[in-house]
Amino acid sequence: MKLLVLNGVNLNLTGRREREVYGGETLEEINAYLAAFARARGHEADFVQSNSEGALCTLIQNAEGVYDGIVLNAGAYTHYSYALRDAIAAVKVPVVEVHMSNVHAREEFRKTSVLTEVCKGEVLGFGKNSYLLAMESFFL
Ligand code: DQA
Repeated sequence: MKLLVLNGVNLNLTGRREREVYGGETLEEINAYLAAFARARGHEADFVQSNSEGALCTLIQNAEGVYDGIVLNAGAYTHYSYALRDAIAAVKVPVVEVHMSNVHAREEFRKTSVLTEVCKGEVLGFGKNSYLLAMESFFL
C-alpha cells in the first residue's frame, strides 16, 4: 500500500508550538517514525505539509490513482474548511482524519469538524500515534 500523510496549517511548527498539547517532537521526527513504521509493515508512505488550503485541496485531488489512502491532519482547517471537505468528497481515495490532541477535551470550536462526515474514519487524542493508528487502519 502507498499512503499519503498530509499535514495542514501550522503543523510545520509541531515540536515548537504548544508543546504541552502536541509534544516536543518535530514534524520531521514524527514523519521519520511513521515512515519506519510503514516500511516495517511492508508499505510505503509519502509525507507532505502545507499551510495553504488550496494546496491541500490540490494534493487531495492529485492523490486519486496514486495513493491507496490519505492520513490527514488538516489542523484548524478541520473546523471550517468546506473547500477541503469538498475535495475529500470529490475523490475516491479514502481519507482518515487525524488529530494529535483530544479535540473534544479542548475549546468549543475544536469539537466541530466539517471533514468527519466525508472521511472514512477519525483517530484523535494519541499524539503522534494518532497518525500511526490511522495508517494501521489501512494495513489491516
Ligand atoms: C489539531 C487540532 C486542531 O484543533 C488544531 O487547530 C491543530 C492541530 C491536532 O492535531 O490536535 O492545528 O489538528
